[in-house]
Amino acid sequence: MSTLAAAWTALETAARDGRATRIEDRFAAEPDRLVRLMVSAAGLSLDLSKQAWSLRGLEAALNLAKAAGLEDARARLFGGEVVNPSEGRPALHMALRAAADADFKAQGKNVMAEVEGVRQRMAAFAGGVRDGKIAAADGKPFTHILHIGIGGSDLGPRLLWDGLKPLKPQIAVRFVANVDGGDFAQAAAELDPARTLVVVVSKTFTTQETLTNAQAARAWLAAAVGEDKVGSHLAAVSTALDKTKAFGISDSRVFGFWDWVGGRYSLWSSVSLSCAVALGWEAFEQFLAGGAAMDTHFRDTPLETNAAVLLALAQVYNRNGLGRGSRSVVPYAYRLRRLPSFLQQLEMESNGKSIALDGTRAAHGTAPVVFGGEGSNVQHAYFQAMHQGTDIVPTEIIAVAATDEGPDGMHAKLLSNALAQAEALMVGREDPPSAPRTFDGDRPSSLILLDRLSPHSLGALIALYEHKTFVEGVVWGINSFDQWGVELGKEMANAILEELEGKASKDHDPSTAALIDRLKN
Ligand code: F6P
Repeated sequence: MSTLAAAWTALETAARDGRATRIEDRFAAEPDRLVRLMVSAAGLSLDLSKQAWSLRGLEAALNLAKAAGLEDARARLFGGEVVNPSEGRPALHMALRAAADADFKAQGKNVMAEVEGVRQRMAAFAGGVRDGKIAAADGKPFTHILHIGIGGSDLGPRLLWDGLKPLKPQIAVRFVANVDGGDFAQAAAELDPARTLVVVVSKTFTTQETLTNAQAARAWLAAAVGEDKVGSHLAAVSTALDKTKAFGISDSRVFGFWDWVGGRYSLWSSVSLSCAVALGWEAFEQFLAGGAAMDTHFRDTPLETNAAVLLALAQVYNRNGLGRGSRSVVPYAYRLRRLPSFLQQLEMESNGKSIALDGTRAAHGTAPVVFGGEGSNVQHAYFQAMHQGTDIVPTEIIAVAATDEGPDGMHAKLLSNALAQAEALMVGREDPPSAPRTFDGDRPSSLILLDRLSPHSLGALIALYEHKTFVEGVVWGINSFDQWGVELGKEMANAILEELEGKASKDHDPSTAALIDRLKN
């Protein structure tokens, strides 16, 4: 048996044996459990002691990571080697948040001068818009940004904006992603085109949803400020500078990034231009610094105390050792309510794969379903099933220790709910006379604690999840940086559009054919 196969067997055996002991009983049996499973990184604290694993299970998971070549893979990631072989690319999003004098090379070529060049242009643009030197067609300052993008060109900036936006912003960002007239119409009704800067964000600049919305926004602007002045209300972010030019956006208004940045890892780049303008450059720089601090932790910390590694291995243990096919993510922070959506793309687009790097079928289950919502709202929605349902769903709670926002005393109530849920999930309650009131407990959770929600801590949190996702991909032996699974549906949508428009007629399965007929009529 290979070392890797033996490590998988050891993990599965530890998990099977561990089922006999309840999580809460492990604290007495394992005196150093808290020390081993409470870690901190880049200002964040993680409590993984309420997870299902025993310390033996943890050791098995660490051995599995080593056997899967994690340390070597981490070095290749930071070394800018091709870690995305199906597209022949490195994944060097860490360079985007690194100091200008850092040494990041994509396949041997230092990228920092280019990264810093775009950052300086972004900083100048952000400052110019904020102080009114870059103004609307009538010479007055912009008050709104309409950010158009989808997937990685949307979810990260949305999380960033909601996480950090001032209560009364000087410039507010409105996001439109979907090719859904309802979304665009609502945005157009809310915004004054004369005061709005439209930022079109698309790595490829081919995405149907984004280009459709961009055309609509252009027409909406032109009707208000005149075709000749539309350019002063537009900016674009893309790696495809030929396509932004063809769309009619002048080069001085286009901010590039690079093909070694995956869409779902791109919020550190000019993809967050809207946020850099609306939050101010200083806040954006602190956000980058938070991400960079987590990079240093992930790169330099031994696996045993490495926050991203432990968070990933807890998931591997639940997924592969115990067969838990989903995970619930619950930020007890209104400002982080978009985190579950962001993580759905980060984790499920990265690791929702069935084919291993060597082209064989993946031998073990990969990305679980990630879902979640804002605490405490979700306690009044799906948490009944979390506590008493037949399926055990590991939960991840994110909490913020202190805030200046809201009335006195409110935050303590929110925090008490976060802690109570984790405790209740683990300890349960026996109430034999009334069986419906019995809680089995023994349901695992993790808790991630931010001292405060700041640009720095948000950067650290997102980078933590990025590295967690990478670690899981290495253990599962898959390419975390491609996304071929999203292509087939896109192609079929283009074909069906031609049919709905009456331009073509194609063969379909009977169900789809009947639906097309119905919609055409
Ligand atoms: O949904 C597929 C996808 O390719 C994502 O990976 C990407 O983030 C999104 O579409 C948007 O792509 P683009 O930035 O090229 O418009």
